Amino acid sequence: MKTPITELFGIDIPILAFSHCRVVVAEVTKAGGMGVLGAVAHSADALEIDLAWIEEEVGDRPFGVDLIVPAKYAGSDEGGLNLDQLRQLIPPTHVEYVDDILRRYDVPPLPDDDGGGRGLGGGSGSDAAPMSADSQAPNLDIALAHRSALIVNALGPPPQHMVDRVKEEGRLIGALAGKAQHAERHVNAGVDVIIAQGSEAGGHTGEIGTMVLIPEIVDAVGSTPVLGAGGIGRGRQMAAAMALGASGIWCGSVWLTTEEAETHPVVKDKFLAATSSDTIRSRSRTGKHARQLKSAWTEEWENPETPMPLGMPMQPVLINDAIRRIDRAAHNEGSGAEQLANYFVGQIVGNMNKSKPSAQVVFDMVDEFIDAVHSLNVQLEG
Ligand SMILES: Cc1cc2nc3c(=O)[nH]c(=O)nc-3n(C[C@H](O)[C@H](O)[C@H](O)COP(=O)(O)O)c2cc1C
Repeated sequence: MKTPITELFGIDIPILAFSHCRVVVAEVTKAGGMGVLGAVAHSADALEIDLAWIEEEVGDRPFGVDLIVPAKYAGSDEGGLNLDQLRQLIPPTHVEYVDDILRRYDVPPLPDDDGGGRGLGGGSGSDAAPMSADSQAPNLDIALAHRSALIVNALGPPPQHMVDRVKEEGRLIGALAGKAQHAERHVNAGVDVIIAQGSEAGGHTGEIGTMVLIPEIVDAVGSTPVLGAGGIGRGRQMAAAMALGASGIWCGSVWLTTEEAETHPVVKDKFLAATSSDTIRSRSRTGKHARQLKSAWTEEWENPETPMPLGMPMQPVLINDAIRRIDRAAHNEGSGAEQLANYFVGQIVGNMNKSKPSAQVVFDMVDEFIDAVHSLNVQLEG
């Protein structure tokens, strides 16, 4: 295929795969698309190890790194608050409510030898405020010290110093947009590739559907290439996104049930069984609206009689340990932790019914894309 995106990155197929899992990133890149490693919850050491591993795997083929430096969060005007300051902003009623959920669902405490772990609420080894520009600075340095072809930012335009650094190093910078105004702001900030992500998407997402959003953004950003995202997991959807003016696609959810994905096995089984009605935009994990699988966890936070989720990054700081406790105990069948367990995923989950190798997902998508384009051509020719 030849589109502005395949030309820009020198790839065969304009399919970009967002994943926190290095094996998925490498497999999609090797299959002719391009993997982008989600690094927001990586410690600097973990990112260094993963990028060195990816480079070894993919040879000369390109890959990307995605960071999250939100434009707005509690304390953003002061450059972010440290963990202690954030903990002081958490009302005791919220701490009690989280304890109450864990008690009612009988979720055991973490063992003494629990070594922390990845998460958005701190615990990644950095003292900087979680989700702040400072917390992502070491990861940006590491991404640029490797051969990353694309650096992507979510939740706002990338800060100017990030744009400048990426450009100085001769790499490209991308940003997610859920509205045409966001995309225009990104282009004005110097962004090279826009990811037009509709509401169907897993993770942080806005309210405008992909079908409406892509052409609005394509029309708003002129010659800047646009990737369509949100609800794209098969070739017919890829053809639709490209018919709407996208130069390629960016998928996140569809990799979560692949054979290589490091998704929690209990959650993976829930994804494989879920329908497209089984997701919800909820603030219960990060403090900002993020689409995820419905579970007892999201129900608890939707209940109007219980506390509302806090903002970002207080909510992740509040629930970080609770999520680790739930994930550790969810393996026990029939347990309360199993009922609570969930993760970010988009409406395409209804289509994710079979675990396949990531490369197979790419090849199946391309096959169906070709059939869809052929079928349209046949209809056009009458
Ligand atoms: C589990 C999960 C985690 C995500 N985390 C991030 C993230 O850290 N940074 C980001 O830019 N996008 C993130 N996203 C959004 C994806 O980059 C992508 O835009 C989205 O998944 C596309 O829609 P889809 O889920 O329908 O494929 C995440 C999505 C999922 C499913």
